Amino acid sequence: MTTSASSSVTSDLPADRYVVVGNPVSHSRSPAIHAAFAKQTGEAVQYDRLEAPLDAFADTVRRFFAEGGHGLNVTVPFKLEAYDLADRLTPRAEAAGAVNTMWIEDGLIHGDNTDGVGLVRDIQDNLDTLVEGRRVLLIGAGGAAMGAMLPLIECRPSRIVVANRTASRAGDMVENFVESADQYGVELWAGGLDALDALSEDEACDIVINASSASLQGELPPVPALLLAQGVLAYDMMYGANPTVFLAYAAQCGARTSDGLGMLVEQAAEAFYNWRGVRPKTAPVLAELRAALLAEAGR
Ligand code: ATR
Repeated sequence: MTTSASSSVTSDLPADRYVVVGNPVSHSRSPAIHAAFAKQTGEAVQYDRLEAPLDAFADTVRRFFAEGGHGLNVTVPFKLEAYDLADRLTPRAEAAGAVNTMWIEDGLIHGDNTDGVGLVRDIQDNLDTLVEGRRVLLIGAGGAAMGAMLPLIECRPSRIVVANRTASRAGDMVENFVESADQYGVELWAGGLDALDALSEDEACDIVINASSASLQGELPPVPALLLAQGVLAYDMMYGANPTVFLAYAAQCGARTSDGLGMLVEQAAEAFYNWRGVRPKTAPVLAELRAALLAEAGR
């Protein structure tokens, strides 16, 4: 187990300790984000990286809390193990089947998932795009898509179309959300990416979210150009200094585009709120992070 250098202490009070746990974890931008939140809000927060051995996530987390750690974020590849480890889960963590935020309350390890709410805040608040009454196309049916489902449903879109490379996986995922969708009056559809070809212009969606990991491999999920026309918001959960292949293609087709950097900042803000009861302003932190990303790429 290795811990990186501390990233921030912002007040005269002894700082409370937080970490992001992953393997690898050196790439994580969470320390920079939480340092900025702590500075902005005056909260006494020290936030570091903590690399857990691949076979010792639970021990690492238990030891961190036993030694007085206040809370932590979980990143790859431990979000499912974090779900299993938590004594108490929030409804959205339960629905996501994964945990990215933990803390101790009444002696119990609590687990939440703030990724999905981070996504909808970015879409609605930062990108000024209302989800209510709109049609959403969600590409992918893995962990990232699953985490987005309940927060999206709670925004009351008229329909969520889940399209995945493996059609059966989309169907299996959607099964878990039928009850919530009924409750919020949301129509659900699931199928393979190939089925998108059969959608007519009238059935096009207003918001298209790439929650697949295709962008990580530089691959383009086959989405018909018709579904990425002008007026559509195309969102990729991945981010980088350069547009992902999906975003470059969507822009070519006429769609408005956004990568997932805002989602990263918003999920962090929600975690910070869970721990501290204070909601940081995200816009300045997102702007700083974007500038840092471009500077690293030499632009
Ligand atoms: P994550 O936690 O990032 O969601 P995951 O659970 O492994 O990762 O899921 C990856 C998702 O991306 C899946 O929906 C996967 O499709 P399959 O279910 O068919 O495997 C999707 N995916 C990965 N590579 C893809 C590609 N090149 N094109 C389209 N979809 C892809």
